[in-house]
Parts: sequence; structure tokens; C-alpha cells
Amino acid sequence: MKIFHLSMECYPVAKVGGLADVVGALPKYQNQMGLDASVVMPWYNNAFVYDNQLEVVFDGFIHQAERMYQVIVHKEINRKLGFDLYLVKIPGLLDREKVYGYDDESEQFIAFQHGVLHWLSAMGIRPDILHCHDYHTGLVPFMIENCPSFKFMKGVKTIGTIHNGEYQGSMSWEMSKYLPFFDASKFGLLDWNSRINPMAAMIKSSHAFNTVSKGYLEELFSSFQGLESLMHQEAQKAFGIINGIDTEVWNPKTDPMIEAHFDLKNAEIGKWKNKVQICEAYDLDPNLALFGFIGRFAGEKGADLLPEIISQAIKESDGKLNIIVLGSGNPYLEASLRELKKVYQFNFALDLGYKEYLSHQIYASADFLLMPSRVEPCGLNQMYAMRYGTIPIVRYTGGLKDTVEDISSGGSGFNFTDANAESVVHAMQRALTIFENKKMMKMLIENNMNFNFSWEKSAENYLYLYKY
Ligand code: ADP
Ligand code: GLC
Repeated sequence: MKIFHLSMECYPVAKVGGLADVVGALPKYQNQMGLDASVVMPWYNNAFVYDNQLEVVFDGFIHQAERMYQVIVHKEINRKLGFDLYLVKIPGLLDREKVYGYDDESEQFIAFQHGVLHWLSAMGIRPDILHCHDYHTGLVPFMIENCPSFKFMKGVKTIGTIHNGEYQGSMSWEMSKYLPFFDASKFGLLDWNSRINPMAAMIKSSHAFNTVSKGYLEELFSSFQGLESLMHQEAQKAFGIINGIDTEVWNPKTDPMIEAHFDLKNAEIGKWKNKVQICEAYDLDPNLALFGFIGRFAGEKGADLLPEIISQAIKESDGKLNIIVLGSGNPYLEASLRELKKVYQFNFALDLGYKEYLSHQIYASADFLLMPSRVEPCGLNQMYAMRYGTIPIVRYTGGLKDTVEDISSGGSGFNFTDANAESVVHAMQRALTIFENKKMMKMLIENNMNFNFSWEKSAENYLYLYKY
């Protein structure tokens, strides 16, 4: 079975968040199962394209709103990632450094989808499955059924995966001039509330679609930024498949990004060595419990609660805990965390930015990981934390609900229900009482490290979806 994953991100080529981790891992596991999975993504002007050997496999043109664009498809020739990787360059649109955040991103995403389908049609490549990740590639299922230029692709099965329903790519109908020609009577398949909505289009036109956990799937029926009724209409082809993690990349026994390697047998000492190293680097006392937060400073992640969480937790524990935050985003939040750093110099460490190695080091060294997410379709941080023996403290929502069970019901983490600082601090206090009990801590660390979050089972579930 030939599968093409279409995505804006893929680790280690270009990563903003968990989408990259998923697209960098699932195809590898699918190939290990005997499938033939590849990834198709934009060409970014970053280190990956200069450090790896690429060959041009297609060079052609597309027209978008009267303009002609060149489409150059590159293939990474050493198959380093465990799958074939194709990078689509469209000079003027897809040849930039960043993944997101440009004013013309709707045009960029349309050009990517148009360019990919043009390339496949022109070369006579007809995969069994086109797997579209998030709204950025959500117009593909519509395009292959309704744009005459892609009639060669008509009937190819399309699967849509919703990694985050908060972002739908809604745009005015004026933007339709950028789309390849389609039968105007089909406009309803693109429309939602008198706008083009690529997420809605993906749901309407794909053969089947899924979200990245069952918990989040349930939530979308009542909270989906206006698409709730569509969810009800299309419920028969909606699925929830929890993400896995790449246990080769995320392995505390071999991870080149961490200070001291460890496994179940020597987790206590291994984690301690990592903790000492990170505490020294940030002027923290390693004997105190270390709580970590890693993530985008966005409302969904509950990052805005951090200043209150930090000051309340440090005050209420009388300075008997440490917190380390790695992340970036909202500039006001960055500024207020910088101010807090001045107040709580020896209990609070702050690193603003995106640092892959530091994230691994925090998972390896922290005692607890905080995830006060308001919305969390799956969440990978809690799984990485658990694999590295760090106990997750999570809001009971979406994928967090499906992966972290509270210690009071026999699980190995902490849940709380309200997205406010009091609830988080209360959960941290519960965690502190466990921290004092070395035997209990050891048991929780071992239980967490023993969890199997590998992709094998989820990859089987995707296969079921492909055959649906
Ligand atoms: P999301 O995709 O919504 O951001 P996930 O939990 O699925 O959330 O995945 C987040 C991924 O991004 C994880 O691999 C996490 O370690 C990583 N990450 C988030 N913020 C940072 C950061 N500032 N530095 C390094 N890695 C980060
Ligand atoms: C999104 C979600 C996150 C999920 C990730 C990978 O970014 O916010 O919860 O883990 O996609 O599916």
C-alpha cells in the first residue's frame, strides 16, 4: 500500500510542535509494517536542505491567480529518515525559513496542495492513500475530486487528520482565485458560514478523518470553533487514534541530547545526574522537587497561567520547589516571566526560545512536568516525560485524559479539572507530598517508564482507517 503523508512539518526537517514529531515517526513505523509510506512537505530554507543530499525529481509550473509559479520537487536520496522524503519548492512562496506566520500563508498552503497534485498527476504517480495532516492540506480531498486538472487522481482515497481543531484556515471567498479551476456547483464542499474553510472541506470531502485521541474526538462534537454541527453530520467517518512516540528518538538509554543515560534499572541515579547538571546550569538546588513546563506560549497550553502558578507555588511551599520553563510565543507573557525571574532567582529557571536538546534534558531531569492545557488534542510532552521517568501533572482534557491517570485511581500521574492557577498549585502540592516519599516516587517513575506508547498499535489503527 502506497501512502503519501502531506504535511507542513516533519521532524527533523522542520518542527514547530507535535505535528512534526508525528509525521516524522508514523511513516517510519508504517514502513516497518511493510507498507510504503512517504512524506511530502514544503522546501524550507533551513539547515536540513543544505546538510542532506537532495535530487530534483520534478520541475514544472502551476498557475495561481494569473501568476505562473515554478514547482520543483526534491527527494532526499539516502532515505535517512526511514521513509522517502519529498520537498516541494515553489520560488516566491515555498522557499522561506519559517514554517508559519507569513501574511500570504493561505496562498502558500494552496500552492503547496496545488503543486503536489500537479506533480503527482504529471508524473503518473497514483498512491493508494493521500494522508492530509491538519487544515493546511485540507483542500486536497476536495481538489482531487472536483478539479478537472487532477482527474488522474480522482478516486484516490484521502484521509484527514485533525491535530488541532483550533486552527481551520478560514478565508474569504475572494481567495478562491488562487484555487485551481473547479466546478462552481461544488462550492458548498468548501464553504462554511460563507467563507472557505479548509478544515470543514477536509471533513466533508475526505474518505475518513480522525483526531489524535478519543478524548479530543468526543470534545469536538460540542466544541470545535463552529464546526460542531458538521461533526455530527459526518460522525460515521470520524475516528480517534491516539499518537504514539518514536521510541528510538526518545530513549533515555541512548538519547544523545541528554547528559546521563539511564533505563529502568538505574533511573534514580540517571535522573539525579541529569538533574544536578541542569540545576547547576540554572542556579537551582537539586535537592528540591523540580517541576518543568515545555511548550508554545499559547492560550491552548494554559501558558498564560504560568506567572500565577509560579509565584503561588513558590510562596505556598516556602521556596521548597523549583520550576523550569522552556518556551516562547506571546511577548507579554515572555516579559512577565522575565520579571518573575528577577523575583524568584533561585527557584525559577527560564529559557525563552525553541531548544530541542534542552527539552530532552528537562524531560530527563525534572521530577514532574506541568501541562495546564485548556485544549490538548493529544499532547506528546506527557508521553516523553513518562518515558523519561518524569511524572506528568495534567489538566483532564483531550488526549491528556486518555494517557495520564491520576494516582488516586491507580495511575501514575496527577489530574486536575479546572484551568486556573489554584488547581494547578493544588496538584503540585499533592505531588510534593509524594516527592517526600522516596519509595512511592520510585514506584511511579518505574510505572511511567514502563508505559508502552510506541507507534505500533496506532499504526495498526491507521491501517484500519485506510481500509475504511
Ligand atoms: P503542540 O504540537 O500542540 O505544541 P505536543 O505536545 O504535541 O504539542 O508537542 C510539542 C512538541 O514540541 C514536543 O516535542 C515538545 O517537546 C516540543 N516543544 C515545544 N516547545 C518547545 C521548545 N520551546 N523547545 C523545544 N521543544 C519544544
Ligand atoms: C497538535 C496538538 C497536540 C498534538 C499534536 C500532534 O499540535 O496541539 O495536542 O499532540 O498536534 O498530533
